[in-house]
Amino acid sequence: MAKIPVIAGNWKMYKSAEEAALYIAALKAESLKTERRILLAVPFTAIDRAAQAARGTPFSIGAQNMHDAIEGAFTGEISASMLLASGAEFVLLGHSERRQHFLETNSFIQRKLLRALSTPLTPILCIGETLPERERGDHEKVLILQLEECLQGVENKAAERLLIAYEPVWAIGTGKTATPEIAGETHQMIRNWLLKRFGKESAQKISLLYGGSVKPESIASLMAEPDIDGVLVGGASLDPKVFTQLINY
Ligand code: PGA
Repeated sequence: MAKIPVIAGNWKMYKSAEEAALYIAALKAESLKTERRILLAVPFTAIDRAAQAARGTPFSIGAQNMHDAIEGAFTGEISASMLLASGAEFVLLGHSERRQHFLETNSFIQRKLLRALSTPLTPILCIGETLPERERGDHEKVLILQLEECLQGVENKAAERLLIAYEPVWAIGTGKTATPEIAGETHQMIRNWLLKRFGKESAQKISLLYGGSVKPESIASLMAEPDIDGVLVGGASLDPKVFTQLINY
């Protein structure tokens, strides 16, 4: 089943609210292909302005993280309802930088995912293996464990709202994109796991994104792989001109 290609930007810790508004104005001025689902994961402080600037456009604004609790004494954290109230429509969960620098575990990510699914937020679950894991040939095992643990308790119908981003840690911010063959075969493995776990009808509705140094030069060959439904782009999403090229690949 062909899905509308998803082009998602992850701004990480870049751009103020003002810069976000200017970026979206610049993107609006471009002529963009319409058969695209365009997502921008912006810093918390830019969500409100970005969502206002994106009103009436096909761009969805989202967050890069959230806490699983409804509310509470969690200094420095943000809840799903706060994100929704700010205009976020989706949230990245389990990005490898969260796992690596902030020690997020699969079980913490699973609690966030269930919370997001209990609200109108669309979760984008990020998974990926490190270089030593890939070199040892352990990547399948690692990815399947991430899927099993992060998606524990998710029902088939709810899974249809999910997006999953496969981002090999060795490809993020390194300029070293996975080859279309490696990305394609890993996506196929993930899709097969999803088919078994959620059944054909639900699993086919889940968009699988590839992330890790995606650039205008590499996007078309990645998107040509049958199980790659979209991309999650960090560095190359920061400039609206480059992001336009990615959207219009
Ligand atoms: P990159 O980041 O495109 O800069 O490698 C991707 C990501 O972290 O989502």
